[in-house]
Amino acid sequence: MCGIIGYLGPKKISSILIEGLKKLEYRGYDSAGLAVVNKGKLEIRRVKGKISNLEEIIRMSPIDGNYGIGHTRWATHGRPSEENAHPHRDCSETIVVVHNGIIENYLDLKKELLEKGHIFRTETDTEVIAHLIEENFEKNLEIAVQKAVKKLGGVFAFAVISSKDPEKIVTAKKGPPAIIGLGSDEYFVSSDLAPILGHTKDVIFLDDEEIAVIDKNGVQFMNFQGKTLSKKIDTITWDPIMVEKGGFKHFMLKEIFEQPRALRETLMGRISLDTGKIYLDEINLSPDFLRKISRINIIACGTSYHAGLVGKYFLENLTHIPVEVDYSSEYRYRDFILEKNQLNIIISQSGETADTLAALRIIKKNKGKTLSICNMKGSTATREADGVIYTHAGPEIGVASTKTFTTQLMALMLFSLYLAQVKNRFKKNEILTYFQELQRIPHKIESILYQSSKIENLAQKYFHYTDFLYLGRWVNFPIALEGALKLKEISYIHAEGYPAGEMKHGPIALIEEKMPTVAIAPKDRVYEKMLSNISEVKTRNGIVLAVAWEEDKEIREKVDEIIYIPSSHPLFTPFLTVIPLQLFAYYIGLKRGADVDQPRNLAKSVTVE
Ligand code: G6P
Repeated sequence: MCGIIGYLGPKKISSILIEGLKKLEYRGYDSAGLAVVNKGKLEIRRVKGKISNLEEIIRMSPIDGNYGIGHTRWATHGRPSEENAHPHRDCSETIVVVHNGIIENYLDLKKELLEKGHIFRTETDTEVIAHLIEENFEKNLEIAVQKAVKKLGGVFAFAVISSKDPEKIVTAKKGPPAIIGLGSDEYFVSSDLAPILGHTKDVIFLDDEEIAVIDKNGVQFMNFQGKTLSKKIDTITWDPIMVEKGGFKHFMLKEIFEQPRALRETLMGRISLDTGKIYLDEINLSPDFLRKISRINIIACGTSYHAGLVGKYFLENLTHIPVEVDYSSEYRYRDFILEKNQLNIIISQSGETADTLAALRIIKKNKGKTLSICNMKGSTATREADGVIYTHAGPEIGVASTKTFTTQLMALMLFSLYLAQVKNRFKKNEILTYFQELQRIPHKIESILYQSSKIENLAQKYFHYTDFLYLGRWVNFPIALEGALKLKEISYIHAEGYPAGEMKHGPIALIEEKMPTVAIAPKDRVYEKMLSNISEVKTRNGIVLAVAWEEDKEIREKVDEIIYIPSSHPLFTPFLTVIPLQLFAYYIGLKRGADVDQPRNLAKSVTVE
């Protein structure tokens, strides 16, 4: 949560920082602020609410300089207000900090600093960083930072500037991401790649317990002990245009429509119809270990967790290995059992979700094998797990995950097929049937996207309802959960996802004409069962909106509304059934006037527990 940015260079500082913050706004939008040093004087602008408010303040009271830092906040400690907005200052108002993370021992530190005479102005944990640096400051900012970080508990990525040691930005990381961008005579600090990409493709990912010192001569790196480090430069191939809306009204809609491309790219170079082989170059798991896997545990949060649930069905069907799926926040506190030949799959779009990283670290500490499925190159999950399968979705800006979900499904399907092949589970050429099916998915999604106006009309008819039930079975049970989650996030409508067979054990009590049911009913092994559940809803005066296969005439008589999707191999239906549900949530959110790209209280990347 929270986004930090920093810039040192010749361009107009306020525009660079504001444009950068807009790209980080998905990380939190409770308040925003920036600080620059201009002719030796530190100037700060802060506001409650979104970056557009900050922009307005700066328009009325411009700010100038050749280096500065900025912040967009998702509030944890201290309510969202101007006073609690970053950057935070020390007593002398010459040191300012922007921070992403939580300083867990801030109350103890605050007490110590208060006893030493420091004066605090805010309710935040971040303010202690500024005072701690002030306490340790002699002449040099990075040395003060080095001393301060040793006392900080919890997790942090922060950037600090000081008018007492000018023309310098110092960044420290332990937990949340911090990326340094290397332009020509200009340098950036950012929580993610998006603000940097339009300026340079050369970046350096800070690792934990590292400090970067930017000045006009370049960037120096050191660890928390002060040892100088030499860091690898990564060149990023993402096109900056990918982080623009490209003619769509919202990022969410653009990202829904990008799914065919994102899936083609995630598939590209990974299957060969000639050799019948799958290539997952970065999984870093030996064939010997893969053959021995006796159990798989998948761990994730939010939409990634739903992808994990679908992955369980893929893996169990294709490999016959038992799979368990856990919420990261639950896993880290349960008495988990790691077997010798167990594989642990971590799914995270950002690779920075705090609970997911905590689970990954516990597993590694207990010598478990880990594989991450991740969208962000260089993120913590990809660096800490034993192996990785990248989803090539490109940057996802809409807070609600869409294209990253379907590309996670693709990664899980590829891995399931790969493992099944290693375990010799296929008859001759059988895998080619799966490959062909995989290749057809993007085109089938395109045919669903063509129906978007039909789904928009349905949204027009149903947007005033206040409760929805989503039902699915087998491989589409997680899609019922995901459909309900999308509706909740985007439109603030209460929605519940349920395995249809469980309906009789509770939700059936809610059925009436005021609560529509969305039933996911492709003609798979549970189709007849779904039809029975649909009848149960109808006999209780419920309204049913079904997602069904194109050629299905039977279901037409039984439901009120129908969204058709192309038929496919039954195991592959989640790739298709989720698409109309994403669109339905989007259009309902739109009709209800909700901020679909930045729903209230949410953030794209939850880097705090
Ligand atoms: C937040 C986002 C969700 C996302 C979840 C997990 O809640 O709003 O869209 O699914 O975090 O994020 P991750 O980056 O770990 O997939």
